[in-house]
Amino acid sequence: MARPHIEPYVELDTKYKKLDLSGFKGSEYKVLSLDVDTGACTLKVRFNNGFKRKPGMSYSDMEIFLLEGRMKVGKEVWTRGQYIFVPAGMAIGAISVPQGAEALVFFNDSEPSFLESDRNHQLALTAAYTSLNAYVDAPWMTADIVNPSVAVGCLMKPLHYDPLTEGISFIYCLAPQFRQDNISYHDCAEESYHIWGSSWMLQFGDLPTGGYFWRPPYINHGSFRCEIGTIAFGRTDSKLHNYFHFNPWSNVDENRLRAVAHLYRQRPKLYQWAASDGHNHPHGPEDFEHKHYHDDAQVRQLHGDSPNAIKSKAKKKKAKKKVKKKSK
Ligand SMILES: [Fe+2]
Repeated sequence: MARPHIEPYVELDTKYKKLDLSGFKGSEYKVLSLDVDTGACTLKVRFNNGFKRKPGMSYSDMEIFLLEGRMKVGKEVWTRGQYIFVPAGMAIGAISVPQGAEALVFFNDSEPSFLESDRNHQLALTAAYTSLNAYVDAPWMTADIVNPSVAVGCLMKPLHYDPLTEGISFIYCLAPQFRQDNISYHDCAEESYHIWGSSWMLQFGDLPTGGYFWRPPYINHGSFRCEIGTIAFGRTDSKLHNYFHFNPWSNVDENRLRAVAHLYRQRPKLYQWAASDGHNHPHGPEDFEHKHYHDDAQVRQLHGDSPNAIKSKAKKKKAKKKVKKKSK
């Protein structure tokens, strides 16, 4: 199951909890969104005064956006507005936070993890590492890197682009009195955190400073209004295409059908092949995965089997094999 729709959520009134995990001790967290199957999540993390950690890596791609404070990480100094993409398995330097800091921390593939190491994993895609100050080191652009695009008055700074999924991470701002009168949805999940300011959407009302959403694909959002301006951090999990329309009553299934009609018009051969019977394209995870994937003890535990049930099934399997051997 993917992450549920969370919108609108304002985190400022929620209390921090201790993050009692190896590599995170001395920090506190709030969950903004969570995939309960994979553990992938978006957290707001407070690194308390004096937080320290040795060099190490995570098993998940990780993104950090520093909201407040200053962190020393290896040879780098991160200040307010710093954006970092750390690919899974890449070791980053020792961290020290003498005066405290607050950050959005994204674990894109699995639960928060830390393995102390001063070396990268041999499979880490280290070329993807990104570190820049989003406020200072990148220029504002119009948002028309996506076409059709949003109304004039929305600017963005792309910070990271995933060449495999076409997902992007970016900051964006809405000018005071920004208006967009149509309704939008996408094929991708979309998340956003309001660093400052407030904006309004027809379906979800005002989203103030500290506001957050995780919005799964094909959910209507818009029209849009912004009175005093907004600056926000945004992220998608795959390619963002703006499907615009003016029907506030359409539901996710209707939007999905309309998106498929779009695919049919643009790539009819691909559509026909994917939709036809008797083809040989994969139907789901079972066709991508190794045939013994579902027997793997860790996978079974993830799907809710108790350790005892896993052990007893393994024993029965062994006994069956023995009987088969004997009967031969
Ligand atoms: Fe959107």
